[in-house]
Amino acid sequence: MATPRGPSSSLSPHAAANGDAQADWWVASDPREALTGRAVAEDHVLGVGGASTMLASITLRTPVGRVLDLGTGCGIQALHASLHAGEVVATDISQRALAYARLTHALSVPDARWDLREGSLLEPVEGEAFDLIVSNPPFVITPPGAPRFEYRDGGLEGDEVVGTLVREVGAHLNPGGVAQFLGNWEIRGAWTERLEQWLSESPVPLDAWVIQRDALDAAEYAETWLRDAGITPERDAARFRAAYEQYLRAFDAAGIEAIGFGAVLLRRPMHGSPTLKRLEEHEGQAPDAARPAPGREPRRT
Ligand SMILES: C[S@@+](CC[C@H](N)C(=O)[O-])C[C@H]1O[C@@H](n2cnc3c(N)ncnc32)[C@H](O)[C@@H]1O
Repeated sequence: MATPRGPSSSLSPHAAANGDAQADWWVASDPREALTGRAVAEDHVLGVGGASTMLASITLRTPVGRVLDLGTGCGIQALHASLHAGEVVATDISQRALAYARLTHALSVPDARWDLREGSLLEPVEGEAFDLIVSNPPFVITPPGAPRFEYRDGGLEGDEVVGTLVREVGAHLNPGGVAQFLGNWEIRGAWTERLEQWLSESPVPLDAWVIQRDALDAAEYAETWLRDAGITPERDAARFRAAYEQYLRAFDAAGIEAIGFGAVLLRRPMHGSPTLKRLEEHEGQAPDAARPAPGREPRRT
């Protein structure tokens, strides 16, 4: 049963800069669990978080025509894209998320061209191509039986959301187009093997640059994502323990040694064959391009 939701939504200020363009936005979402003090509902719509700002900070910001924001949620990636794109197509499987994204658009960038579409992964853009695809997708690996949440579980087994994107996104890129997304991947042996496999299965040969920023063992991963949803031993010890054990058992049974977290950049070559394949580990601080320029601090409420 879904956890009862409080009456309020959340409006957060968010500032950004891209070259000379400065922006102050309002982002609409559900309130985070730290504010409500309880576990989030299954259909929770995430506000701007660390992963959102990290992706925004590493996304290439050259002027482009069409951008796809896959899994738009509150609309934060689409907002950033509006600073350098002619048109943004923003998709989500959740009608609640799309309603929040619509509100974010109305409050923050009413004149920007946003086309909001409901559907799973690349289904809503079948046959279409983009200059830039950005996604902070529902990449969390949740074992069967453990609590699932729309904002982070894409409805596929294991790390298949990220696998699907690596394999299929190339067909939706214009020549020279770039896809940038975050992800988790299962690690058995060398972490690069899974990424290499997915890349080899893309029918469109792609330049690839993958950075693994972190790797967690099963226990760390379970605790991270249970707490992220507000499922804590302090609030509900029995629920936390049961879910925690599901993670440990399932990962052990699947031979998963660790779970990698990182960023993927794929580019469809303008001409000819790919020239870049770089898979590396880098645990340093990501640049914070989402940080406002001096004198443009976000409004506080
Ligand atoms: C981690 S949130 C990211 C939200 C926002 N783009 C950001 O950067 O913070 C992932 C989003 O993907 C959506 N989603 C979940 N499953 C999906 C699917 N199969 N296809 C498309 N979107 C999905 C969720 O509803 C959620 O809004």
